[in-house]
Amino acid sequence: MAGPVRTPQAASSRIFSGIQPSGGLTLGNYLGALKRFVEKQDEGIETIYCLVDMHAITVWQDPAKLRHATREAAAGFIAAGIDPARSILFNQSQVSAHAELGWIFNCVARMGWMSRMTQFKDKAGKNSENVSLGLFAYPALMAADILAYKATHVPVGEDQKQHLELCRDIAIKFNNDYAVDFFPVVEPVIEGAATRVMSLRDGTKKMSKSDPSDQSRINLTDDADEIARKIRKARTDADPLPETLDGLKDRPEARNLVNIYAALAGHTPEQVVSDFAGAQFGTFKPALADLAVARLSPITAEMVRLMRDPGEIDRILGEGADRADAIARPILRDVYEITGMIRSPGRR
Ligand code: AMP
Ligand code: TRP
Repeated sequence: MAGPVRTPQAASSRIFSGIQPSGGLTLGNYLGALKRFVEKQDEGIETIYCLVDMHAITVWQDPAKLRHATREAAAGFIAAGIDPARSILFNQSQVSAHAELGWIFNCVARMGWMSRMTQFKDKAGKNSENVSLGLFAYPALMAADILAYKATHVPVGEDQKQHLELCRDIAIKFNNDYAVDFFPVVEPVIEGAATRVMSLRDGTKKMSKSDPSDQSRINLTDDADEIARKIRKARTDADPLPETLDGLKDRPEARNLVNIYAALAGHTPEQVVSDFAGAQFGTFKPALADLAVARLSPITAEMVRLMRDPGEIDRILGEGADRADAIARPILRDVYEITGMIRSPGRR
């Protein structure tokens, strides 16, 4: 039997989420994740947000670029409205509980579960013999990120749903194997009009910071002209916008632009098609470009300002890491006790 479990159950709601600093933030990250992170913080829920640098190195990262991308992503979070006094904001590698619990979860998760992860299959492609072991184990580390805090809710884009199901499976198996009621079974929070923002060049592909074509995405660092140009050039069909959403069924590029408009405006996609019913893209695209610039340019400008003081960003990340560690450390101590690993007196 396991020893006594001292950690009090997490507060009724605790939010955790992460973004990889493996490049710049995109409009997909903003609408699918970051904008929602800010909303959760503003609802007064306890929020913990992490730049997952250890996830990033599952594929090769140039060290100088990783450092820059981590600071820039932190600046993006703050510019978008994350308040480091109300949310905990830090980079993953500064809190060792992630790696420690990640190892334990490597021993809980099953090879068969991991082999079914579609993101691994997509990223490894035909090259699966040559990708890092970390890329395969990645979802176990992601489960550790979340469960090191006994987080209950995880806001993400649609593409992370399968990883969160795996996180639930890991929590359930751990609780069963050790006969404890220890880890919560987390709830994915996949909400809003743009849970899956698609590429501007191909409406069937996710907008991604790793797409070789910069035209396929809007970066949070793009200036107003770039944003407008990319939207103007976005691939569409020749038809006008329909009266109802049904009319967008087989028009993925048009549907994507409508979703983006809706998410930026805080409207539903239904409202957007009814406002623009019958409009040509020659009308809709400039309206979308104006809206995107109005929403994103202040964030970009603030990011640039914050990036002038990288020392201050590092200080904020360190303070966040201290607060994160204070939550995770006692939980990890309990995990070591449950799993039968000795902690000598006086040691952490
Ligand atoms: P990543 O950039 O893969 O670390 O993703 C960080 C967060 O952004 C996750 O919650 C993703 O689900 C979300 N995200 C990334 N790309 C998109 C996209 N194209 N549409 C919606 N959400 C996205
Ligand atoms: N896997 C996520 C992505 O690529 C990033 C991530 C890592 C994450 N750890 C997390 C998201 C924990 C939510 C919770 O998008």
